[in-house]
Amino acid sequence: MAIETTLVLVKPDGVQRGLSGEIIRRLEQTGLKLVGLKLMQVSRELAGKHYGEHEGKPFYNGLVDYITASPVVALALEGPNAISITRKMMGVTKPAEAAPGTIRGDFGVDIGRNLIHGSANESDAKREVSLFFSSDELLRWDRTNEGWITE
Ligand code: RTP
Ligand code: MG
Repeated sequence: MAIETTLVLVKPDGVQRGLSGEIIRRLEQTGLKLVGLKLMQVSRELAGKHYGEHEGKPFYNGLVDYITASPVVALALEGPNAISITRKMMGVTKPAEAAPGTIRGDFGVDIGRNLIHGSANESDAKREVSLFFSSDELLRWDRTNEGWITE
């Protein structure tokens, strides 16, 4: 079992709509462990680094405007298969195609307001966690009930 740490952002629409707690609740209750959590304002510089793969695409400027519009909640989540479990809970990029029961499926209608970011793969996760969290903001703590979550 690969223990991974993934970056999640509750995007500005999620925070504006009061869905931060609901989104954290869904992810936390899977058994993934919170190792980082903060409210923060994303600068255009950080947005450019985070979304570098999309630079030049038609939606890029709107995407940077969106993610920098108001605060986000950043989470680092750790656990076995944390990346794929988080992506499954989020649903696919377009809320209109996201399954019921997923965050995007339950709360979204528009790809440009799809509420949440989650790292796509291991190399993105490593890069993104270190973009959003300094090492002293990541707490590696022991869970007393760990044996009831992982074998
Ligand atoms: P994310 O990176 O935010 O977790 O989302 P994702 O992997 O599901 O989607 P990705 O392809 O990486 O796109 C990043 C974000 O850009 C916005 N987007 N808009 N208007 C459009 O056609 C379009 N395509 C992508 C979305 O906010 C998407 O989450
Ligand atoms: Mg992506």
